[in-house]
Amino acid sequence: MKSYLTCAASTLALVASTAAFAGPEAEVLHYWTSGGEAKSVAVLQKEFADNGGTWTDMPVAGGGGDAAMTALRARVLSGNAPTAVQLKGPAIQEWYEEGVLADISAVAEANNWADVLPESIAGHMKCEGTWCAAPVNVHRVDWIWANSDVLSSNGIEMPKTWDEFNAAAAKLQAAGIIPLAHGGQAWQDATVFEAVALGILGADGFRKAFVDLDKETLTSDAMVAVFDQMRKMRGFVDPNFSGRDWNLATAMVMNGEAAFQIMGDWAKGEFMAAGKVPGDDFLCMSTPGEGFLYNVDSFAMFSVDGEEKRQGQDLLAKLVVGQNFQKVFNLNKGSIPARTDVSLDEFDSCAVLSADDMAASSAGGSLLPSYAHGMALRGAQSGAITDVVTAHFNSDMSSADAVQQLATAVANSM
Ligand code: GAL
Repeated sequence: MKSYLTCAASTLALVASTAAFAGPEAEVLHYWTSGGEAKSVAVLQKEFADNGGTWTDMPVAGGGGDAAMTALRARVLSGNAPTAVQLKGPAIQEWYEEGVLADISAVAEANNWADVLPESIAGHMKCEGTWCAAPVNVHRVDWIWANSDVLSSNGIEMPKTWDEFNAAAAKLQAAGIIPLAHGGQAWQDATVFEAVALGILGADGFRKAFVDLDKETLTSDAMVAVFDQMRKMRGFVDPNFSGRDWNLATAMVMNGEAAFQIMGDWAKGEFMAAGKVPGDDFLCMSTPGEGFLYNVDSFAMFSVDGEEKRQGQDLLAKLVVGQNFQKVFNLNKGSIPARTDVSLDEFDSCAVLSADDMAASSAGGSLLPSYAHGMALRGAQSGAITDVVTAHFNSDMSSADAVQQLATAVANSM
């Protein structure tokens, strides 16, 4: 009798615990809301569901993720962090220092991340030696996109120097075409600024300015020239640029209203989602100058209670670094896989160019973290720089004043 009871009790306990476990769950905070981005994140949602997971979507619109980061802070402060968050660069370590990130080393080790990720990327995913984020891709930031018909019908080639860009823009403007599609949002101003800065300062100058925060470089004549070029860029945008979302700027290039856009290759995701063909409908080239500005999207997991959520985090981390996922997701997103063992056979010519340039830049010492996309600096420092860039772009501030303000803002942010 006793043994029957014990057996029945343990069966009941088993049933209860099985019933209580609802399967892996994840509430995912991200800012992938444009056409190409939504298609990409849908790949992850499907893969998560196919593996038994329940996904709760928490999209926060706003390119570059500023609004998403504000939403994240509010959630963490109220003691209710999302399970997984699209987070990248030094912000990962900043959250780790607040003691709110989960350790995903077990997943990383079981799936050999150390062997399939380049060291430069793996370094961003670690917090004091443990794995604290999972990388999804490599976006290149220093791209110039163009409408091929607009260029050919105006006798214009893709510009290889900033002087060529300025000459092409002046010619287009005279023909009644908007030379540069741009959205007046601080992160978009910063995106154009860092591409111009890489071209004018060179890779070493860029590193000194935006990684080392070297005062001499921040106030150099070359930096004055960067702001001079930014003033020219301001003259090449249309009067309605303020507040425009980046994907609407991409649409202006698609429909021929504008000729160029300077934007990371998530813009390619928009062209592709609209059925446009690279080399045919639109052109891609790196912005004038040497080097490669990388921007690696990743997910960090926040410390949460509950077995469902913890298993959801492990499943999500495993899936995003998975070989097939890295291919399919990045075909939609415009980026290239973070893993080194994914074939690029199905990728387009812009992606192949990106991978080749990344390898060459890595070998030549000009592979650099994007400051505008939160890969190079902590939030306080990158924010201080962007404030000056935007204030200059939206006023008649002189370049000489801008470099002085830059040095002061950086010093005050330390
Ligand atoms: C970048 C991000 C990309 C893309 C873009 C526009 O910072 O890395 O994945 O979403 O912003 O929001």
